[in-house]
Amino acid sequence: MNTYNLPNAQAILIHDNLDDLSLAVAQRIAAAAAQAIAARGVFHLVLAGGETPRRCYEKLRSLAIDWTHVQLYIGDERCLPKGDAQRNDTMIRATLLEHISIPQDNIHFIPSELGAHAAAAAYAALLEQVATLDMALLGMGEDGHTASLFPDNPATESTALAVPVFNSPKPPPDRVTLGMNTLNKARQKLFLVAGAGKRSALEQISCGILLPAARVKNAEWHIDRAALPN
Ligand code: 6PG
Repeated sequence: MNTYNLPNAQAILIHDNLDDLSLAVAQRIAAAAAQAIAARGVFHLVLAGGETPRRCYEKLRSLAIDWTHVQLYIGDERCLPKGDAQRNDTMIRATLLEHISIPQDNIHFIPSELGAHAAAAAYAALLEQVATLDMALLGMGEDGHTASLFPDNPATESTALAVPVFNSPKPPPDRVTLGMNTLNKARQKLFLVAGAGKRSALEQISCGILLPAARVKNAEWHIDRAALPN
């Protein structure tokens, strides 16, 4: 049941709970990977940070994916020391990478320990080598941010491939994120949105308020019932 008219959404899929949402997205990733590898020999996948994707990454472990032909990226990273428990790549290593055999050379995370400016420049240079990102996984914050593109933050208006972020309202203040144009250019964009905390942002987006997440066009929104309004 589509209770939203999320503008720009390509599809809206409502799931009973986070577990069902996570399995459905994991299966979408596996199918997209098989299609891309068959067609082009490679699948360029951008992983999301935060807490919501954890279970999806755990479910990916047991799906038949040819990881040797998958190139992994990350949508954003917090400027913290390498290995910090609060980094997004730390969560991705723990939930996925430590459980699959993927060549180290296929893993392209943001070197945020270099600081926001240097890390964004380095990641932009890397992204310039990639013709097209096949799929970008995205979370959405309670304020409607996605990746580290926050409302009323200058980084959200940048056209750069990768952007330094300062004064993030979600700690830590310094981050690096894929730019809005980079996200929009991905062949497929999948949002994972779960929990009552996301209701307000979804409501605002459905009323036409262009929060950053709403500016990602033609995305497939995977939403659990807890995030829907009563
Ligand atoms: C981060 C994430 C961020 C996240 C949203 C949703 O660094 O926190 O990249 O964009 O996806 O804030 O976070 P949750 O999934 O934890 O609600």
